[in-house]
Amino acid sequence: MATRGGFSSRLGFIAAAAGSAVGLGNIWGFPAEVGAGGGGAFVFMYLIFCFVLCFPVMVTEIAIGRKTEKNPVGAFNALGFKKWNFIGKLGIISGFLILSFYNVIAGWAFGYIFEMAMGNFGVAENFSAFKLQVFKVGGYGLVFMITTAYVVSKGISGGIEKASKILMPTLILMMIGLVIYSFTLENSGAGLSFYLLPDLSEINGTVVYNALGQAFFSLSLGMGALITYGSYVRKDENIVTAAALITIADITVAVLAGLLIFPLLGFITQGNIGNGDMATAGPDLIFVTLPQVFEQIGTGGALVGALFFLLLCFAALTSTVSLLEVPVSYVVDEFNIRRKRAVWMVAGLIFLIGIPSLVGNGYSEFFTNFITYIGADQPTSFLGFIGSIANDTMLPLGGFLVVFFAAYVWKKHNLDDELAKGNPNYKGSFVQKYLNFAVSYVSPVILGIIFILTVLGTFFGINLI
Ligand code: PHE
Repeated sequence: MATRGGFSSRLGFIAAAAGSAVGLGNIWGFPAEVGAGGGGAFVFMYLIFCFVLCFPVMVTEIAIGRKTEKNPVGAFNALGFKKWNFIGKLGIISGFLILSFYNVIAGWAFGYIFEMAMGNFGVAENFSAFKLQVFKVGGYGLVFMITTAYVVSKGISGGIEKASKILMPTLILMMIGLVIYSFTLENSGAGLSFYLLPDLSEINGTVVYNALGQAFFSLSLGMGALITYGSYVRKDENIVTAAALITIADITVAVLAGLLIFPLLGFITQGNIGNGDMATAGPDLIFVTLPQVFEQIGTGGALVGALFFLLLCFAALTSTVSLLEVPVSYVVDEFNIRRKRAVWMVAGLIFLIGIPSLVGNGYSEFFTNFITYIGADQPTSFLGFIGSIANDTMLPLGGFLVVFFAAYVWKKHNLDDELAKGNPNYKGSFVQKYLNFAVSYVSPVILGIIFILTVLGTFFGINLI
């Protein structure tokens, strides 16, 4: 059997895992959620969830992966709990579903690089028309998927690690440049205060619940992506420190994305941000509102716009790579198929599964108005449906199951033993006590509750909070 490969350095793992975490979720999703619900209040809840609730899940996933050196299904088998490998199977299905629609959005972003570079800002007002051109947009998506597959086919150190080590620092530098630029625009301060000053009275059920979903998705938790990446980590790596760095990197990029986007919104609304007449929510924020800002900038707007979407594509690519690696590692480990072949098979299949998400934006009536949830007054598209199933439902469920498994089936002392490798002072430390408590109580209880609330609220129209 061929060797599985692994990360060649500490930094390589951190760059790759941070690359997985940093993606559309940070630059497209986070600012949109902030705009839609609560401004700074959302940011506040999001930060609490990342550190208190999600961090323990991340540590657990990486530990299970490194202990077993297996994909998310094989990992549970290797620990001797075959019955629990359904957690890994659920994760692989989530990965399939998420990548299928994620790639469609990445395709839009990819197309926008060219539209902006050519100064075609009108594409924004006609975003619906842009999405209707399914062959063109699908072509962009296909190129994106092929690029993803190419990186994954090169393996761990030669593909994923190498790409992340180049893309991640470039992304951060480009962002800082754009943030500085956006600060120079008129009325940027109004945007900043909307973003940064939390009005705690804005916190309600929806804000809390969206902040958790966002934290989970953004940190790539709950589907075994970090079990998979963890399986390539060296035994002398300090998992707790690595997880802290990954979390901080993810939060930093989300916060930077806000620092970049809200001053732009302050500029275009002439300081009236937050008064509701600006598209600040959903895909519209990035694909409709921002290009209008780039247009108003005048000379240089095309360059700033093209750079912005290039940056978005870099972020998305290191995430799609991790999403593809999960099912690929499963097929490679469990069915003994060569990596290259597994990659192209799985990528092809996921691209096909994504077609309904591609055409469900106006082109196909059936997939556009795919389903109307109980109690909802508007139908949800196929893409939205898959999003609510995978992101909002399956990820928190997966996160809940992983910590529950670690605490009560695999047992905490085994988790502790794994975390102590590469971290000689771990046992007896405050961090150990905190993680033990969080993995046994805080994370499973809150995640369990949120899972139930999500299912009731999203699919059955029963809103308990
Ligand atoms: N974290 C990625 C983002 O923010 C998405 C992702 C989710 C990647 C789950 C891998 C696993 O865009």
